[in-house]
Formats: sequence, C-alpha cells, structure tokens
Amino acid sequence: MSDSSSQQFSIKGVPIKGAHIKRAFSGVQPTGGLHLGNYLGAIQHFVALQDSHECLYCVVDLHAMTAAHDPTTIAAHSREVAAAFIAAGIDTNKHIVFAQSHVPQHAELAWMLECVARVGWLSRMTQFKEKAGKDRERASVGLYVYPILMAADILLYHSTHVPVGDDQKQHLELARAIAQKFNNDYATGATGEDFFPVPEPLIQSRAARVMSLRDGTKKMSKSDASAASRIVLTDDADTIARKIKKAKTDPDFLPDNAQALETRPEAHNLLSLHAALADMAMAQSIEHFAGQSFAALKADLSDRLIDRICPLGDEMRRLMADAAALDAILATGAARARAIGEATMVDVRRLLGLIGA
Ligand code: TYM
Repeated sequence: MSDSSSQQFSIKGVPIKGAHIKRAFSGVQPTGGLHLGNYLGAIQHFVALQDSHECLYCVVDLHAMTAAHDPTTIAAHSREVAAAFIAAGIDTNKHIVFAQSHVPQHAELAWMLECVARVGWLSRMTQFKEKAGKDRERASVGLYVYPILMAADILLYHSTHVPVGDDQKQHLELARAIAQKFNNDYATGATGEDFFPVPEPLIQSRAARVMSLRDGTKKMSKSDASAASRIVLTDDADTIARKIKKAKTDPDFLPDNAQALETRPEAHNLLSLHAALADMAMAQSIEHFAGQSFAALKADLSDRLIDRICPLGDEMRRLMADAAALDAILATGAARARAIGEATMVDVRRLLGLIGA
C-alpha cells in the first residue's frame, strides 16, 4: 500500500493525502467466537475488495472494551480475529491488518469528532438502546460514543468504502454526517473536494443480516445465550451438522415465492444462507427448493457450510497456534497504519488550528 496519489490538492494550504484512492476500511470486535454472520455479512467481502481497493482491516479492541471487558482474554481474541482475516484470504503483504489500540491516532481523532458530532445524533442510535438495555444509566460512556470512534476509524485513513453487515448501517450514516460536518465547518476545499471523503457503506444483498438458528426474528450474535443459535467459525463438521439439524423451522413446505417468506423468518433465513453459500440469487434458491421439505434444504445447507467453514476453522486454528507470528503481523500492520494515520492527524490538527499551518 502506498500514498502514491497523495498531495493532489490542498485545503487551506493543507495538502490532502490519498483523497482519490479507493480505500476500504472495516473492523471486527475481538469479543471471542466469531460466527457465520461475521463471515458472510462482512469478512468474506473484505476479501473480495482486495483487487480493487487498498484495504485496512482492523481488530477493534477499543470498541470491545465498551461492554464487559476481560484483560486476560482480549489479546487471544484479537489474534482470533486476525487469524480469521488471514484464513479467509486477506493478503497481509498487500493490505493492512492491525489492532485499533496500537494506533493511538484513532482515539485522538475520536475526541475531535466528539466535538463535531451532536448529542441529538447519538441519542438516535438504536444499537446503543439495544445494548444498554433497560438500565441505560449504568451503560459505559464508551458504549454511548462508540459510533464516533467508528467514524474516527474510517476517516483516519480517508476511507472511501466500508464493507459491513446490515446492522452497521445507522453507524455508517452517522460517520457520513460527521465527515460532512467536519468538512463544512473546517475544510471545504476551493476545488470543491472535501478533506474527508464521505464514506460509502458496502452492504451485500444476501446474508447482510444472518439470523439466529433458534429464532429467525433475532440477529445471529456472539452474545446470544444459546450456543445452538450460531455457527462459530471454529465449529467442527459434526457440530455444524447438529446445529443445522436442530435449527428452528415451521410446519409448512418451502414456498415458491419471496413474498411468502415475509411471514416465515426461519425459512427466509435458511434460504438466504443457501443463496449466499451457493452464490445464487435468492430467487434461484427459492425456485430450487420450492415445495420441498426443510429436511432437503438443511441437508444441502449443512454440506455447503461444512465445505466452506471447516477449512476456514482449521486454518484459523493453525494460525492461532503461533501467537508470536500473529503478533508480528499485527505489529507490522500497526506501523503501516500509524504512518497513514499520523499524516492525517497532522492535517487535522492544522485544520483545527491546534498547530501552525
Ligand atoms: P462486530 O464485531 O459486531 O461485527 C463485525 C462485522 O460482522 C457483521 N455482522 C453480521 N453480518 C450479518 N449478519 C449478522 N448476524 C452479523 N453480525 C455481525 C457486522 O455488521 C460487522 O460488519 N461496530 C462494528 C465494528 C467496527 C467497524 C468500524 C466497522 C468498529 N469500527 C469501522 C466498520 C468500520 C461492529 O460492531 O462489528
């Protein structure tokens, strides 16, 4: 990765680096037990962007601290995320894989953006309401300002594209609003170009929201009390087969049209998983299983999951067995990310008048 197209124009005398590069950024929290939703909704798309974008994929360990934090497990969980990126096919020679806390500029920019964002914007964030639950007063302040740190992650690298699952849509809208307000308040260029590109979310049409195997109305999640609700990337073949066999269904045969799926969340979820894994349009998966039983769909899905997930899990285990090698990859990634991030911060500090132009 280079900054070869840097300094193409300047704003208030500040040269804008990397402003025309197609740059993808995304993050995954090291909370342990990465699952199928993380893979199909996000990580597999990180891999697909490598030929068209400069990519930075970040283990967002500062974000993981916003909920219950265990200092004795976070490093191992961070390695798990790095291993998943690499096992899925991210090339760490060409692209950057690193941990957020190793690049202090994320936290510095987050503070500055906290002074740009408005309280009213944050108070609309639905994920805070869900995660804080009923006892909002006791949620960490970090959980409340979480989306601003996310905006800092993205903007620190002048990222143009952000591959994420559907649940991050609202956070991305906030990041866009923050970029726009910063540009308007401090940095609208004479050329009409903005200092921060307004980042585009990249959300897939299939498997953007993988649902729980025990309840098709709930998102598949690491925090679900039921282990049977999710396929973990390190599950073995028997475990995957068992979880799919036990997955909730309804009593009817599978329908021949998408509209009928609107009231059948489990059928919808299993068919969309099939479509994503078979690389088919949803309509094709529906047509393929129309009139058949759930058993036929589950047998097919189970085989596809075992083919796709087991090699990934095996490779993750192999990589995780060498903690020092993963730490070295993360350290190299952090050094590369810091160089880009610090260049941005020099510009930001100047634009804000904190250091001389
Ligand atoms: P996290 O760690 O919760 O999830 C990582 C990625 O997995 C996606 N995802 C899902 N996709 C489909 N179906 C599901 N059931 C499912 N569950 C999770 C998420 O959408 C996400 O893309 N806030 C982010 C991390 C983050 C970030 C960023 C992302 C921090 N900074 C900057 C993009 C850009 C999060 O909680 O991810």
